[in-house]
Amino acid sequence: FAFTAENLALAKKHIAKYPEGRQASAVLPLLDLAQRQNDNYLSQEAIRHVASMLDMPFIRVWEVATFYTMFNLVPVGKHFLQLCRTTPCWLRGSDALEKVIRDKLGIRSGETTADGQFSLLEVECLGGCVNAPVVQINDDYYEDLTPESFEAVLDALARGEKPPHGPQVKRLNSAPEGDRT
Ligand code: FES
Repeated sequence: FAFTAENLALAKKHIAKYPEGRQASAVLPLLDLAQRQNDNYLSQEAIRHVASMLDMPFIRVWEVATFYTMFNLVPVGKHFLQLCRTTPCWLRGSDALEKVIRDKLGIRSGETTADGQFSLLEVECLGGCVNAPVVQINDDYYEDLTPESFEAVLDALARGEKPPHGPQVKRLNSAPEGDRT
């Protein structure tokens, strides 16, 4: 693993934000860059690369990478589904969304479909409870889901489309950008 020229420039920008001798402070953005470059997967090789750039022992960077759940230490599918299972989402139907995934994609938490298209991870509160239930797909939140609307989102992704994220019904926070008070 090595950063592309573009990501190397970005990594250097992050490192330059910190005083000389404190470059370890850039560990999180560099790990994030490495994971994004590597199809949402942070390999040990990538962790080693970041460690050597920051002049840190591998074990210290490994500790960071294993502490934060946003780092994927095993490869994940093209569409990485993070299904919130905390109480507000559970009360609003996360069980039914889990069933949609199981019936439609045949995967459970921690698994990836055979075609490498979808992975599922059950997670704790994503901070979007006002529009529960919530599923994060890669960087986007799909909110206020019903089994039907969630199935439509999965179908669109499988067709290679990018369905609009945000609330899937006109309930809360669905005013256009700029109209929100
Ligand atoms: Fe699901 Fe908070 S409980 S987003």
